[in-house]
Amino acid sequence: MRDAAPTTIYLKDYMPFGYLVDSVHLTFDLADHATRVTSRIAFCPNPEATDRTFFLHGEDLTLIRAVIDGVEVTPNVTDKGLTVDVPDAPFIWEAVVEIDPGNNTALEGLYMSNGMYCTQCEAEGFRKITYYPDRPDVMSVFTVRINGDLPVLLSNGNPSGKSEGWAEWTDPWPKPAYLFALVAGDLIAHPGQFTTMSGRDVELNLWVRPGDEGKCAFGMEALKKSMKWDEDVYGREYDLDMFNIVAVDDFNMGAMENKGLNIFNSSAVLASPETSTDANFERIEAIIAHEYFHNWTGNRITCRDWFQLCLKEGLTVFRDAQFTSDMRSAPVKRIHDAIDLRARQFPEDNGPLSHPVRPESFQEINNFYTATVYEKGAEVIGMLKRLVGDEAYAQALKLYFDRHDGQACTIEDWIKVFEDTTGRDLTQFKRWYSQSGTPRISVAEDWQDGTYTLTLSQRTKPTPGQPEKLPQVIPVAVGLLGQNGDEVRATEVLELTEAEQSFTFSGLAAKPVASILRDFSAPVILEHDHTDAERAFLLAHDTDPFNRWQAGRSLAQDTLLRMIREDAAPGTNYLDGMLAVLRDGDLDPAYRSLMLGLPTQSELAAALFESGNVPDPMAIWTAVETLRQATAQHVQDLLPRLHSETLIDAPFSPDADQAGKRALGGAVLYLTSRLDGGAKAAEEYAAADNMTRQLTALSCLLRAGAGQTELADFYRQWQHDRLVVDKWFGLQVTTASPETTPDVTRTLTEHPDFNWKNPNRFRAVMGALAMNHAGFHRAGGAGYALLADWLIRLDPVNPQTTARMCSAFQTWKRYDVDRQDRMKAQLTRIADTPNLSRDTTEMVSRILGA
Ligand code: PHE
Ligand code: ZN
Repeated sequence: MRDAAPTTIYLKDYMPFGYLVDSVHLTFDLADHATRVTSRIAFCPNPEATDRTFFLHGEDLTLIRAVIDGVEVTPNVTDKGLTVDVPDAPFIWEAVVEIDPGNNTALEGLYMSNGMYCTQCEAEGFRKITYYPDRPDVMSVFTVRINGDLPVLLSNGNPSGKSEGWAEWTDPWPKPAYLFALVAGDLIAHPGQFTTMSGRDVELNLWVRPGDEGKCAFGMEALKKSMKWDEDVYGREYDLDMFNIVAVDDFNMGAMENKGLNIFNSSAVLASPETSTDANFERIEAIIAHEYFHNWTGNRITCRDWFQLCLKEGLTVFRDAQFTSDMRSAPVKRIHDAIDLRARQFPEDNGPLSHPVRPESFQEINNFYTATVYEKGAEVIGMLKRLVGDEAYAQALKLYFDRHDGQACTIEDWIKVFEDTTGRDLTQFKRWYSQSGTPRISVAEDWQDGTYTLTLSQRTKPTPGQPEKLPQVIPVAVGLLGQNGDEVRATEVLELTEAEQSFTFSGLAAKPVASILRDFSAPVILEHDHTDAERAFLLAHDTDPFNRWQAGRSLAQDTLLRMIREDAAPGTNYLDGMLAVLRDGDLDPAYRSLMLGLPTQSELAAALFESGNVPDPMAIWTAVETLRQATAQHVQDLLPRLHSETLIDAPFSPDADQAGKRALGGAVLYLTSRLDGGAKAAEEYAAADNMTRQLTALSCLLRAGAGQTELADFYRQWQHDRLVVDKWFGLQVTTASPETTPDVTRTLTEHPDFNWKNPNRFRAVMGALAMNHAGFHRAGGAGYALLADWLIRLDPVNPQTTARMCSAFQTWKRYDVDRQDRMKAQLTRIADTPNLSRDTTEMVSRILGA
């Protein structure tokens, strides 16, 4: 049962815990429905704390026995934890509790997935395992003994003993309880080895269920590359004798950085050419790196409290992005990140769920693992680096590791290392952590007697709880191009700190064309009223690869908005620009394929809303289709040549080069299939020898209204492989026409393989519904009702995944009154569901603006 009135936790109320933990010993006696957890914890009074209340968190536990210094005690137990009188001196707490992993469908705490035991403790799941001060600023060494008759028994740290039916693990590094992990099952190791920079040998293992052995090699290589990169670039060495990764099928998120024992959603680690797309490979490499990098940014230096989540997540996302840039193409990665930020973070930051990178209050912390904390949090670090320079950044990071190793820190600590390194006052910069909303920058230009003046103004609209906004420090990278396309001023970082500020460039021969916000130097919306001709010029000449891409993107957006608002024809600037880009064989294929991308329909809806129009999802969909068709016709003659440019005559490799060719090949196939009804795509499907080609061909066929035979064939071929079956489910919803989307989705929920309790399967279908803009928003509200039905059904089983998916409704206020009413009615219906989880209650009430 949940509280009638959910409690709100505030950053300003932070108080240290009254006790320190010197050591933790845990013994697990595993049993599906009655696992016993025996804890032995050495506490001592915390000299830095004033409040000595002894409260231990604990939820869904059956307390069997509690003992202090050898004497049995009777604590005062509630559904949140317990209190008891303790000595005013060091003491030993011992408790025996019983838990039921077999019925734990929320996938938090100790649970079971396909007969295997595993844990998920971040953020507040350890309290479902035993009574403990479950907060990140309480750090301790752990020893764990696991008794169970499963062949593989794993926990954090180094192995310290094992025999038939038991294993013991010792983790020498003090850690918060959220990094605790345990895995037990019938697992197979894909082994590996790494020698660290100081010459220590580390045993690596990727543990999988029998049958998945063939999908481990890529992940293992990614792990080794990550370990090497963190040594080379950040000087960070791994600190245990062993590093284990485990793949589990039932997992709410991508993966988890538990000390020495990372647990991964199998979709974020298992890979093979036959079953994984290039996008899957790239994502897996990035997530493995991310979790590994947490060993220093998150584990060795952790967060004081959950308000500081961006301290570890923003920094670790920033680090994994650097890694991907180094391993692959830096411009392509930057473009992917901008696309992703606009698709996921901007809607959050410009709607009812808007919150600062460091939130100041929450009801359920699980609801704050957001694109704002993660991706905007990483952008903030990128800005800091751009402002202080690469060298100062490296020095500041070294100071951070030296000064704070072993501590639980705050954003203040983080900013202070930069202030101490550079002598710079970062007070205003800190607004990036406290002020929510996406700043908009508008541009005015002046040209007189060889002097070009750029006037930039910033404004951020009010967001929930923040009616008034102050100017932020915004690094705006700018370069100037001459009329012939030459760069007349190299990139310079302008620091915009005022509401409005002018920057002058003198000694110029002719009025330049400005390339503003190069490399996407800040997570802002740039409102620059370029003409189509200027955009086309930048698309042809910009020397900054990001902005060259952006010019094409903006041109596409302007073209689409005119088509939607004024029923205009596609226009030749965009079409000729695309033709020129595609013809340019010097441009990397990956980059050319990105150039062909269009703003998402949801982004177009946002742009219409922002400019005072009411977005009509059908009109947006029609405009996109029309522009696609026009593009296909316009570049038709080039398609065969492009196709031949993308052929690969080497064995499959998921590297950036081959992936880029396949991406361009896919874009070409898509345009081709708009002209030939899918004939070429059918050939490609039949010839496909890897998942990228197979899935691309199938997708082109389905979008062309064909491919039913291939769809059935695909299922028959892959029905034994759950990760591929997820793709089969998702693709049908993604490619469905607006009119049929709700019905296609509903039919899929009746399929025997729709195991809706598995988060990957649920998201494959319902996530795809929410992403199919015109289909989800189909007139009449069938999409809304269907999603709400399933969210209501999932909530008692898995609150965390349910709550996350409520964000599909976050943009409800953009649309017409009828759609608003229908979305609001579904949100209200969810809110009114008896016993709704705290997670979902918070999300729905924030979305409704209650
Ligand atoms: N800390 C994990 C990561 O960023 C994400 C996560 C959060 C996983 C909560 C599970 C639960 O890598
Ligand atoms: Zn993380």
